[in-house]
Amino acid sequence: MGAKKTILSGMRPTGKLHLGHLHGALKNWIALQEKHDCLFFIADWHALTTDYADTTGLRENIVEMVIDWLSCGLDPTKSIIFQQSQVKEHAELSLLLGMVVPLPWLERCPTYKEQQEALADRMLSTYGFLGYPLLQTADILIYKADSVPVGIDQVPHIELAREIARRFNNFYGEVFPLPEPILTEVPKIPGTDGRKMSKSYGNAILLSDSAAEVEQKIKTMVTDPARKRRIDPGNPEACPVFDLHKIYTTKDVHEWAIDGCTTAKIGCLDCKKPLIEAINKALEPIRKKRQELEKDKKKLVDILASGSASARARAQKTMEEVRKAMRLE
Ligand code: TRP
Ligand code: SF4
Repeated sequence: MGAKKTILSGMRPTGKLHLGHLHGALKNWIALQEKHDCLFFIADWHALTTDYADTTGLRENIVEMVIDWLSCGLDPTKSIIFQQSQVKEHAELSLLLGMVVPLPWLERCPTYKEQQEALADRMLSTYGFLGYPLLQTADILIYKADSVPVGIDQVPHIELAREIARRFNNFYGEVFPLPEPILTEVPKIPGTDGRKMSKSYGNAILLSDSAAEVEQKIKTMVTDPARKRRIDPGNPEACPVFDLHKIYTTKDVHEWAIDGCTTAKIGCLDCKKPLIEAINKALEPIRKKRQELEKDKKKLVDILASGSASARARAQKTMEEVRKAMRLE
């Protein structure tokens, strides 16, 4: 006992997941669940911090996200998979931590100003939006998580969680361990327009895309701009398609593509063909699993409910400690 680390991470249910999520987060989560005490949750309250004005798609996005997760191999018998809003204790802890966190700690989070600027069409001078990393801190501390697998953009939030935990422990005694980020090597995953794959750019290859959709998307994906004509040689290192080759195809294919591209022996469509095949081959088992899962949506709701019950039991235990430490009980 005690050797296993507690690992927690979450995602906001903002829509269908794509290859960027798979390689950037999910694969890592799926590996972690084999060896550690893992909790993974759907951060639906966090989704509301930016998407509060129109929640029509929220319920569907939550179920879609569970399907995406399970179809890739996240396993409710190995990890606790739950929905944030089903564990109200997160809100209680967030409120109590709100008493001790100085406002400037929240205001200086780089994501705060950046996201406000990026989403300038929305009114984000809200209490909920400022409190985003505070709620995230509660998510983490309520399970006394040791490690939090996140992308580099989230590191300031984990640092904030550490600082808040330290401040809490100073006032009320050692309740919370200080969480650490787990930063995973993430390969470069460009979208079809060559920019970072992202839902908001509309350049993503979705885990739920059919084989035909994948084919269509790769066929029209941008390549090295130097290859305007078929006879122009190109440079794979300047080509986003080749970044995907690096993930999906073998060394032999890479060598073939490099030779063919730099000498203009092959065209871009030739080059894309084995890539399309490889991506579809990798997505095929995920699609199969998805088909099964979609047959029984009730079961998905049950999985979330029972995961949330397990999470809640743990969260309640921590909250008892917290209330005692603060002399509320
Ligand atoms: N902010 C995270 C993201 O956008 C999602 C998240 C919410 C989270 N709470 C968390 C991640 C707690 C890790 C731990 O990716
Ligand atoms: Fe890119 Fe392949 Fe075309 Fe070269 S041949 S530009 S690597 S798609």
